[in-house]
This record gives sequence, structure tokens and C-alpha cells, in this order.
Amino acid sequence: MNIIVLGAPGAGKGTQASIIAQKLELKKFSTGDMLRAEVASGSELGNKVQNIMNSGELVSDEIMIGVIVEQISSLDDSKGFILDGFPRTIAQAVNLDKILEEKECKVDCVLAFDVDFDVLVERLAGRIYCKDCGTTFHEVFSPPKQGGICDNCGSVNLVRRDDDKREVVTARLNKYLEMTEPLINYYQDKKNLIIVNGDNDVAKVTQEILKKIELINA
Ligand code: AP5
Repeated sequence: MNIIVLGAPGAGKGTQASIIAQKLELKKFSTGDMLRAEVASGSELGNKVQNIMNSGELVSDEIMIGVIVEQISSLDDSKGFILDGFPRTIAQAVNLDKILEEKECKVDCVLAFDVDFDVLVERLAGRIYCKDCGTTFHEVFSPPKQGGICDNCGSVNLVRRDDDKREVVTARLNKYLEMTEPLINYYQDKKNLIIVNGDNDVAKVTQEILKKIELINA
């Protein structure tokens, strides 16, 4: 099964993509994680995108499509995938359809997270993540079990994302409304959109997703 998670910054895409990938044994691709890894490594691509990401703008379609083509072509055909952070524009979605058609596969469902804007801001303001393994926490809603230590890898390198500063969050939310929200209609027209109530706690959101996926597989 091939799944896309769609939603505003802080909607819980990354959190749920990791859980669902594990439960359904899917390969997870997160373009945000990939780009942050490029920035951390100081690669040419990382240097090119760092300022764009820190200002809340989108990286160009050309770069992003290149990144995703590489990932998807390396995919073992027997394995489904979950895409977190891609597509983010209509041009990216159209290109993704083409890439998948060439591989004789398709997007089976698009999970669109519906979350109040006030909640998004609160989530981003309290987010911390492990710089070593990428695990995400929230200071209030899902803190690490032992203060300051990553539950997954034991690192003490828990930090805030540069783009979670309040002024950048506003820019990211505006960019989402302008460039990414139109994808809801795009996938609605393709009849594979599933709306998920992202305002619930993490376990309830996962439950709702699994139930709805089961229905399309029935
Ligand atoms: P990216 O990393 O994809 O950022 P984003 O889409 O803005 O999404 P976030 O990672 O901020 O939020 P999320 O929905 O994953 O929420 P999370 O699960 O972490 O992209 C970053 C940048 O890279 C972009 O701005 C752009 O510049 C560039 N980029 C990436 N892809 C691109 C593309 N395709 N085209 C162009 N540019 C691209 O949750 C947030 C917080 O809430 C966490 O603390 C979490 O613990 C908590 N939380 C999650 N779920 C719940 C819940 N149900 N209840 C309570 N708390 C919760």
C-alpha cells in the first residue's frame, strides 16, 4: 500500500507516518528529514536549502522532484511506502503520479490531517527532536520519559528546529495555505482522500487512520 500524509506544519504527519510505517511495514520517506540531514552534513544541497527552510519558504519543485525520484526508484517493488512532506505543490503531485505510473504503481490513499490552527502553533512551539536519530517529542504532550534524554537512542542532543520560531511558523502556515492546501481538492478529485481528525491525542489519531485504511482494503 502506498500512502501520502498531508497537512499543515505541526499537524502530526511525521509522528503518524513513523507509527503507521512501523505497523504496516512500509518504507517511510520524509522530505523534511532528508533535507535536514543534508543541511547537517554540510552538503552542496544542504547549503542550498538551509536559508530557504529557515525562512519558511518551500524548496523548488525541481530540487524536490529530483530528491523523490531518487528515493522512489531505489524502492524495492514489493514494499509499499508512506510519503511525509511530499508532494507539497500541484506540480509535485503531477510529477509523482508520472513517476509512479512508470513504476506501474499508484497512490492508494492520502491521509489529510484536519487540525485547528491554534493547536498547530502550540504543537510547534513545544516540539523538540533528537538531533542524532530524529525522534520527535513535545515538551507537554509527549515528553521524553527521562528529561533531556532521547527514548529511542539515549542521546542528550534534544533540540528545537530552527524553523519552529514563531515568525517562521507564521510564514510556513501561510505557505501551506497558498501552495499545499489545494492538494486536498486534487486528491479529492482522484477519490483517494481520507480526512483524519488530527486534533485527538496521538493514539486516537493512529486508531482512526488504521480503521479507515482497513475499510479501503476490505
Ligand atoms: P517538514 O519537516 O516536512 O515540515 P512541515 O510540513 O512544516 O511539518 P512539520 O514537520 O513541522 O510537522 P508534522 O506535521 O510532521 O508534525 P509532527 O508530527 O512533527 O519540512 C520542513 C521544510 O522543508 C519546509 O518548510 C520546506 O522548506 C522544506 N520542504 C520539505 N519538503 C518539501 C517539499 N516537498 N517541497 C518544498 N519544500 C519542502 O508534530 C509536531 C509536534 O506536535 C511534535 O512535537 C509532536 O510530538 C506533537 N504532536 C504530534 N501529534 C500530536 C497529537 N495528536 N497530539 C498532541 N501533540 C502531537
